[in-house]
Amino acid sequence: MAAVAEAYGTPCYVYSRAIIESNYRTYSAAFGHRRHRICYAVKANGNLALLDVLARLGCAFDIVSVGELERVRAAAGNVRTVTFAGVGKTRVELEQALAAEIFCFNVESIEELELLGEAATALGVDAPIALRVNPDVDANTHPYIATGLYENKFGIPIGDAMDIYRRAVALSGLRVAGVACHIGSQLTSIEPIVDAAERVMRLVDALNREDIVIDHIDIGGGLGIAYGDAAPPAIDVYIKAICRIIDPQYEIVVEPGRSVVGEAGALLMRVQYLKKTPLKTFAICDAAMTDLIRPALYQAYHDILPVTAGGEEQRVDVVGPVCETGDFLGRGRDLAVASGDLLAIMDCGAYGFVMASNYNARPRPPEVLVDGRDIHLIRERETLAQLYAGEYRLVSE
Ligand code: LLP
Repeated sequence: MAAVAEAYGTPCYVYSRAIIESNYRTYSAAFGHRRHRICYAVKANGNLALLDVLARLGCAFDIVSVGELERVRAAAGNVRTVTFAGVGKTRVELEQALAAEIFCFNVESIEELELLGEAATALGVDAPIALRVNPDVDANTHPYIATGLYENKFGIPIGDAMDIYRRAVALSGLRVAGVACHIGSQLTSIEPIVDAAERVMRLVDALNREDIVIDHIDIGGGLGIAYGDAAPPAIDVYIKAICRIIDPQYEIVVEPGRSVVGEAGALLMRVQYLKKTPLKTFAICDAAMTDLIRPALYQAYHDILPVTAGGEEQRVDVVGPVCETGDFLGRGRDLAVASGDLLAIMDCGAYGFVMASNYNARPRPPEVLVDGRDIHLIRERETLAQLYAGEYRLVSE
């Protein structure tokens, strides 16, 4: 990490190829002989190098925008393995995904279903679809990332799904291919997932009774990782639990993001000042909420470890330079730290860089991938000029 800081400066995102590959292989091995498709959720971290590493292992992809479709194309070439989720797909996005001949559209509303049928008919093709059903299951996660309750905007209420499948069969331009479901992210227990999978299987049985035949069941992503003392189930325990519920005739699709790349990344930063106030000591770092928004947005906990240990251990709030009291990275941490020290925020491989912003006119950090003894720059640090490229001064008086 010190060598990375030397070469590329701080703040900087650092990823491990070995951890990403190992997580992917654990997923793949857990399925054994079961027919399956692992669609990595590009939203978790869409860097081309990471997508490339995964594509080489045979990984498929889950996207939520045409931007992510183009990332997959640029990194992996093959976009035919893609599943496309999201509540607000535009007509242009649907058309581009149709032209790309993706694997499946996970449809989230009746209006989207009709628009997709219309767009596909106009292009003279059949769109492969799964209804993303909302099973009304409490995923026991942060309310901002729970998606499987009827109060959430996601999916089609499972109680309405039969009717909408009948409608899908009747509409032109659509081919019913599967059922999809995703109940939330950073799930730390198996029960809600099992519960959702059972509800989905009951829907599939009902579809079968009406001769509406599907080929795959997409159970979404969402498996959590061990931030701090969170104790999510292991990947293979989770996959085996799903395999027990889904009938073997169906291809099982999963859409993991965080559990593939989360633990594989750290945000490397340097302590700028140690500031003592009557109540607290602040370790003011060169990374901020603009680089990692999870603590500010979800009160998320990330371990912060010393890279170069400096002063004596003391209790500090680890914060950034941004002009917001919400700009904290970790509060009340016992760290041996002095100005100039390097620190690493752990478990930043997922929803780190992808949620970074330019607030306070801060360029986004570079990303590097460590591969054995090699360190590859996989994204350059943004420059100040890039921040206002595309802006115009007023030309009139
Ligand atoms: N599939 C769908 C339809 C999703 O909405 C998501 C995540 C995934 C798969 C991947 O979920 P994962 O395996 O990564 O949990 N920014 C938040 C997480 C947002 C998750 C959004 N959807 C965070 O930093 O915790």
